[in-house]
Amino acid sequence: MSTKSYDLAVLPGDGIGPEVVDAALHVIDGVSRHFSLSFQIRYADVGGAALDKQDNPLPPETLELCRKSDAVLLGAIGGPKWDDLPSDKRPERGLLGLRDGLGLYANLRPARVYGSLKGASTLKSEVIDGIDLLIVRELTGGIYFGQPSGRTDRDGGRGFNTMVYTRAEVERIARVAFEAAAKRRSKVTSVDKANVLVVSQLWRSVVTEVARDYPATELNHMYVDNCAMQLVRCPKQFDVILTGNLFGDILSDEAAMLTGSLGMLPSASLGQSCALYEPVHGSAPDIAGQGVANPIAMIASVAMMFRHSFGRPDIAEAIEGAIELTLQKGCRTADIADNGASQVTTSEMAQQVVKSLSETINTERD
Ligand code: IPM
Ligand code: MG
Repeated sequence: MSTKSYDLAVLPGDGIGPEVVDAALHVIDGVSRHFSLSFQIRYADVGGAALDKQDNPLPPETLELCRKSDAVLLGAIGGPKWDDLPSDKRPERGLLGLRDGLGLYANLRPARVYGSLKGASTLKSEVIDGIDLLIVRELTGGIYFGQPSGRTDRDGGRGFNTMVYTRAEVERIARVAFEAAAKRRSKVTSVDKANVLVVSQLWRSVVTEVARDYPATELNHMYVDNCAMQLVRCPKQFDVILTGNLFGDILSDEAAMLTGSLGMLPSASLGQSCALYEPVHGSAPDIAGQGVANPIAMIASVAMMFRHSFGRPDIAEAIEGAIELTLQKGCRTADIADNGASQVTTSEMAQQVVKSLSETINTERD
């Protein structure tokens, strides 16, 4: 069998980023062996790590490397060390610059509950049992990037940002959501604040127009405050949640906790050509360097990479199956462990996932 090769840009970033990235690379190694693939891995700095070395959270060579790679893996960004810097010098600028510079307008954040992890959520198991939802978050527009934004000394001090969306921006992200829904349970919930914000009124009318091209998919609109409440009241009602940049940021953290831990939620950020894969969780400075972070979100992001960038849903499913099996075996990092139960380290979890991968693949071949 010929060996297919992929160029991968790897940006470990800050905090637990390097640890979970190492774990993911271990799994990629396992995948390469089983599926006869090879990876050309090139590292680059971003966020606080880049600030420390080059005084720039997104050095131009990092962006350049990402542009010419087949996919980008990113660990995490930020930490208390850089909290007091002005906003254009913060590590987060590195991530926002990557999203903008690579045109990654569509952020997919799936939240599902693994059968064996029901106990890890703070919600009752009958509420979370069977959750399988996908947040489609617009990632390069809205209040994150709208102009004008700034800070002045007028009126004793003013700070301002602008929430702006164009018809074209809403239309392209709405199409991503409807296309995704067609492959799932054909339901889109578009989340906005159209009772107050004019930008949301435009959002709502464009989404309604786009929906006409997808008659087999059910569309409903929901205000963001109601959605926040419905996510904990009855999360099973959701299939695809379509929303803007800021609301998607907030709702995806909430959705992550339904699954038991922020350490479980992967994401894919897609554009015209390039794509970036990163866990939804942040840099977790409180546990950084201890080797105890949960690598599952990062490993599940690798699964998304095989599905969305490399057209290999079979490998994506094999990795997801291996995660499920590993959890079934009772393997738990601290964030998902029951009180008093034994815990594994970040690298042990990765090793177990690789072992489970071999077991599932060998069973299928028997
Ligand atoms: C996320 C993060 C980022 C965001 C930060 C780190 C800039 O919270 O990806 O959800 O706000 O988008
Ligand atoms: Mg966030």
